[in-house]
Amino acid sequence: MVVGSGVAGLTAALRCEAAGLTTVVVTKARLDDGSTRWAQGGIAAALGEGDTPAQHLDDTLVAGAGLCDEEAVRILVTEGPDAVRRLIATGAQFDQSSDGGLALTREGGHHRRRIAHAGGDATGAEISRALVEAVRARGVRTIENALVLDLLTDAEGRTAGVTLHVMGEGQHDGVGAVHAPAVVLATGGMGQVFSATTNPSVSTGDGVALALRAGAEVSDLEFVQFHPTVLFLGPDAEGQQPLVSEAVRGEGAHLVDADGVRFMTGRHELGELAPRDIVAKGIMRRMQELDAEHMYLDARHFGAEMWEHRFPTILAACRAHGIDPVTEPIPVAPAAHYASGGVRTDSHGRTTVPGLYACGEVACTGVHGANRLASNSLLEGLVYAERIAADIARGPLQARDPHPLPQSERPAHPLLPPEARFAIQRIMTRGAGVLRSEASLAAAADQLERLHAEARDALAEHGKTAEPGVDTWEATNLLCVARVLVAAARLRKETRGCHWREDHPERDDTAWRRHIVVRLDPDRT
Ligand code: SIN
Repeated sequence: MVVGSGVAGLTAALRCEAAGLTTVVVTKARLDDGSTRWAQGGIAAALGEGDTPAQHLDDTLVAGAGLCDEEAVRILVTEGPDAVRRLIATGAQFDQSSDGGLALTREGGHHRRRIAHAGGDATGAEISRALVEAVRARGVRTIENALVLDLLTDAEGRTAGVTLHVMGEGQHDGVGAVHAPAVVLATGGMGQVFSATTNPSVSTGDGVALALRAGAEVSDLEFVQFHPTVLFLGPDAEGQQPLVSEAVRGEGAHLVDADGVRFMTGRHELGELAPRDIVAKGIMRRMQELDAEHMYLDARHFGAEMWEHRFPTILAACRAHGIDPVTEPIPVAPAAHYASGGVRTDSHGRTTVPGLYACGEVACTGVHGANRLASNSLLEGLVYAERIAADIARGPLQARDPHPLPQSERPAHPLLPPEARFAIQRIMTRGAGVLRSEASLAAAADQLERLHAEARDALAEHGKTAEPGVDTWEATNLLCVARVLVAAARLRKETRGCHWREDHPERDDTAWRRHIVVRLDPDRT
């Protein structure tokens, strides 16, 4: 059973099906509603002339700021090129250069042009289209509009399936279960834990929350990547914000302040194409220096034709908000973009719960370390989904009987009311955003604990909890991941990769070249 339908989930499902396994894909909304569809820049792999996996490895390790698992990265970069070729064979059509080869661009942290793209800046949409079509053509069973709740295990703690909240017509929602001896979590990220994010509304940390409740290990949650250039729509903008791909800088756009000064020059040898955390920090610093709400991305020199052909999605999004990048600089600011951490896996995507796998953004395979290299995410989804399918196919697979504790011994979940989602987002944005300190994190932790205590006490004292539904489960999952994220961010008293502590501004390799791994006691919520 595969939970989630982005590049990782659908690739895992297609490969499992091809290996002769009876496979079902369950997804919270429609098959193409996750983050994959929104990916712009592309997919990184050493596909260009003169490029090698070794160079891709070096760039990935540098971006990861000392915390990548080198073996996991080696697997990614060596298996990556063939995985992209298989994706093309599955039907994804990438942009071509004038000589008929793949058109490759650059993004932050890459010393080479190695980012394949589709539809100019609509790479994820094309990958999603191709995979959804393939899943349908091959008759893989799919269940849409079903939110995964909890893992079912047998008496020995091995995976036996999951419970689901299935959305029906009108009032006819219901809870169900799917029994499966292998479950692949591919539920995507948790960007919705912050007010402003590039992630769609479905990215609510459901897979990490499920894994935590199931007692699986989760790692590196403090490393939330803030994308440097998100279209600035005002200081109070909430929800999904339009991304302005790094590929725009890769093709030569400049980051400037209101006076037109290129403030990244001299801050890093790659300037505006430094790794993402460095650019986000550069933007934030300049905003602080000038007391400004945003900076600008200036690509007027591209001209109308290049904008229309190379970046049609971004052009349309900017114009929809009254900004014309052909004639004016684009206002940009960092916003939450990617969870570098997640459910801890080995190199075959196995979590610490037997039979439970994870791939894509929900997983922490070790390839991203403290900061993901641009356009490594689609690649990671592909490569590790294929490895998971191969591992499951090696078997043996044996149906397991779920072994629930008797109802009376098992505490019901204290569910949060739907409006708690916005409270959590504001708390996290204020306290655990791009800039963090003990004071800001402690305030966030207190406020989150209060939300948790209110829900727990209402259940314990009055037997009351919010009505089960997708929005109450999403708020509950957001709180679950937010509490762990804040706890990890408080613990890590250094600045590394995308974790930026104002009160501990230096990287501390003596104390902190290590991971924060969390495992919750499943009997305590
Ligand atoms: C972008 O296009 O800038 C995003 C690519 C990524 O997140 O890797």
